[in-house]
Amino acid sequence: MTDSVTITRPDDWHLHLRDGDALTTVVPHTAAQFGRAVIMPNLKPPITTVRQAQDYARRIRAARPEGSAFEPLMTLYLTDNLDPQEIRRAKDTHGSGGDGQVVAVKLYPAGATTNSAAGITDMHKTYKVLEVMQREGLLLLVHGEVTSPTIDLFDREAVFIDSQLIPLRRDFPELKIVLEHITTTQAAQYIRDAGPLMAATITAHHLLYNRNAIFAGGIRPHYYCLPVLKRETHRLALVQAATSDNPRFFLGTDSAPHPAHLKEHATGCAGCYTAFAALEMYAEVFDAANALDQLEAFASFNGADFYGLPRNQGGVTLRRESWLAPRSFAFGDAELTPLRAGETLAWKIQ
Ligand code: NCD
Ligand code: ZN
Ligand code: ZN
Repeated sequence: MTDSVTITRPDDWHLHLRDGDALTTVVPHTAAQFGRAVIMPNLKPPITTVRQAQDYARRIRAARPEGSAFEPLMTLYLTDNLDPQEIRRAKDTHGSGGDGQVVAVKLYPAGATTNSAAGITDMHKTYKVLEVMQREGLLLLVHGEVTSPTIDLFDREAVFIDSQLIPLRRDFPELKIVLEHITTTQAAQYIRDAGPLMAATITAHHLLYNRNAIFAGGIRPHYYCLPVLKRETHRLALVQAATSDNPRFFLGTDSAPHPAHLKEHATGCAGCYTAFAALEMYAEVFDAANALDQLEAFASFNGADFYGLPRNQGGVTLRRESWLAPRSFAFGDAELTPLRAGETLAWKIQ
């Protein structure tokens, strides 16, 4: 039995940090584990200009612990009327080093998830912007769920792939696309078959849990996220994909903090907070699958390679060691209840 694993410092390719006081809680958690993280733009109001993204990057940097080299990689929020000029400005930030590189644009179907009201109502409205992105080499990151109330919640990802993603892929064959936080057998299969410019992130919670977790012993809002957890067969397909040595699957926590009182609510918010122990949770999954030797590619190589960024220097070591996850963290004026609150974790970063 392996009791210790050392990997090149990993990156988180899908992260929510929020803003203001929240940053002082969540930025140090991510900075302790990851070299870089792709920061989601779904603030209120959303980050839609390069100037806003760079100001936000400065606030994130200011919340890092002394001496931290953690770097946020910024994204723009795609709306029906994003100015294609912003894509050129984003391109100009590349290689600028230090001042908030804008590496990607995030597509939320309007109404699909937290703070997505300003999202896309019709894919075709984005085509002018996507043409410029394809030309300039900016990535498109996709929350892949249809929003129609007539489509069953558990089918929304699979229906999105068939009705939206396949046509998009066909119309922009040179665009790099990441299908974010995949949750289904269909998504894993689609990515596997889709060729070199199509990749997917996978969260720790979708690798650890199936949908029973949301209802075990009563409704458990801290296990509610979007896309929602699926059946066990889907979880197994995700574990298979993550541990399969396919370079187009990589780590994206989708760690998404919300005040505890807004999750423990009649209409609780979607999002699981995992950043405080993300790598430990992934290690648990890879260990259970007898695939700890695949963790480094998934966590530290595949994402950087797909984004065309250098791999990190330095490393992190995880040891098999039981410890208790905190019950909560201070979160501005509120509390933040993490996933696994008060429960045992099996691995610990040194
Ligand atoms: C995310 C959030 O809270 O911002 N929530 C979630 O359940 N994943 C939004 C998202 O990534 O869809
Ligand atoms: Zn999402
Ligand atoms: Zn997310």
